[in-house]
Amino acid sequence: MTNMPDDIDGVRLIVDRAFEQYRDHDNKQSTLIPLLQEVQSKIGYLPEQALERVSQLLNLSTSHIYGVATFYHQFRLRPKGRHMITVCRGTACHVKGSLEVNELIMSELGIAPPTDTSKNGLFTLQQVRCVGACSLAPVMKIDEEFYGNLDPAKVRRILSRYNEEES
Ligand code: FES
Repeated sequence: MTNMPDDIDGVRLIVDRAFEQYRDHDNKQSTLIPLLQEVQSKIGYLPEQALERVSQLLNLSTSHIYGVATFYHQFRLRPKGRHMITVCRGTACHVKGSLEVNELIMSELGIAPPTDTSKNGLFTLQQVRCVGACSLAPVMKIDEEFYGNLDPAKVRRILSRYNEEES
C-alpha cells in the first residue's frame, strides 16, 4: 500500500522531515541512500517530487539521484499494487512449472518488465527463491495467503476471484 500524500507540499514535508536527521552531515553522497530509504519507508515508493526535493536538499543533480534510485532494487519509483503476488522460483517449484505460472500471471495482468505492477494498480508481482512449502509446488502467495499445486486454470480462477472482490 502506498501512503502517497495527494499534494506536492505533502511530499516535500515528508522529505524535509526525513532530511532533518542528516542536516549536519557533510558527506551528501553518503546521506543519499539512507535518506531515500527513509522517504520510501514513509511514502511506500519514491515519487518524482520526492526525488526532486532530495536533489535540492543534497545539492546533487536529479539525474544522479535517479541513477542511484534505479540502480538499487530496494527502491521503487512506482507505488506497489494493493495485493502482492509472490511466485516461488525455488528448485522444487521450478521443476513443477513455476516459470510458466509466472508468465501466465504476467500475461493475465498485463505486467511487462520493467514494470512489476498491473495497470489497474491491484497487483504487484515478485519472485522469491523458496517460500517453504515445497510439497505443494508450484506455489504462489497473494499477500499472506498460500496457493499450491498450481496449474493454469487454478491461477486464472484465483486471479479472477481477487479481481471480482475489488470490482
Ligand atoms: S521451492 Fe517453492 S516452496 Fe520451496
